[in-house]
Amino acid sequence: MNEDQVGLYEAIRTRRDVRAEFTGELVDDAVLWRLLEAAHRAPSVGNSQPWDFVVVRDRQTLRRFAGHVADKRREFHAALPPERAATFEPIKIEGIAESGTGIVVTYDHDRGGPQVLGRATVPETGVFSTVLAIQNLWLAATAERIGVGWVSFHDPEFLAELVGLPEGVRPVAWLCVGPVREFQTVPDLERFGWRSGRPLADAVHHERFGAVACSSQADAGAARTL
Ligand SMILES: Cc1cc2nc3c(=O)[nH]c(=O)nc-3n(C[C@H](O)[C@H](O)[C@H](O)COP(=O)(O)O)c2cc1C
Repeated sequence: MNEDQVGLYEAIRTRRDVRAEFTGELVDDAVLWRLLEAAHRAPSVGNSQPWDFVVVRDRQTLRRFAGHVADKRREFHAALPPERAATFEPIKIEGIAESGTGIVVTYDHDRGGPQVLGRATVPETGVFSTVLAIQNLWLAATAERIGVGWVSFHDPEFLAELVGLPEGVRPVAWLCVGPVREFQTVPDLERFGWRSGRPLADAVHHERFGAVACSSQADAGAARTL
């Protein structure tokens, strides 16, 4: 592998959802623009580019969103059985104030006109495209050693109103973006015992769903990559 390839795999390997490690400094504007450029280069169904990015730094807006998210966290916590509630208790689910920068990524189903090439039979491809933009931003941020945390504990209607989205434009994500002290090497949900990842070999099927990769293939793959 050449240096560029190693760099990309390294960003994929070290990317983390960040909540507690933001330093409190703001991400530099030039860096932020590079991250948005990376997002905007994502593939999209019918080249529709159905995304927009609302950059939020106003302290009052950040506070209002953080308060709303805290309410949603409490509701989720209250609905858990006692054992899960105890596991959930110490898990931080956002770094809205600490990151100092929120990016609301939105989706516009009308973007691209009435005939979006490739979306006729799978309407979700528009949202899929928007999520690819998010992943581009996330990986670019990792390469820049900038943290990103996706916050989905919210009512979409609340967020749409908070940042003034027009009719027909829906929020897909609130991303907390900012410099970090460090990237954890293990996902928070695994570290806190909420849920661990599963091995790749369990996720790869051959020819039909259910026929998983044999372990020798998986071992050979592991030796070749990351
Ligand atoms: C669609 C989506 C929504 C998420 N929502 C939240 C969230 O509201 N709060 C949070 O702390 N993490 C959230 N996450 C982060 C996941 O918990 C995290 O990606 C997962 O635990 C794996 O950890 P890693 O991203 O560090 O590898 C979200 C991730 C995705 C892809």
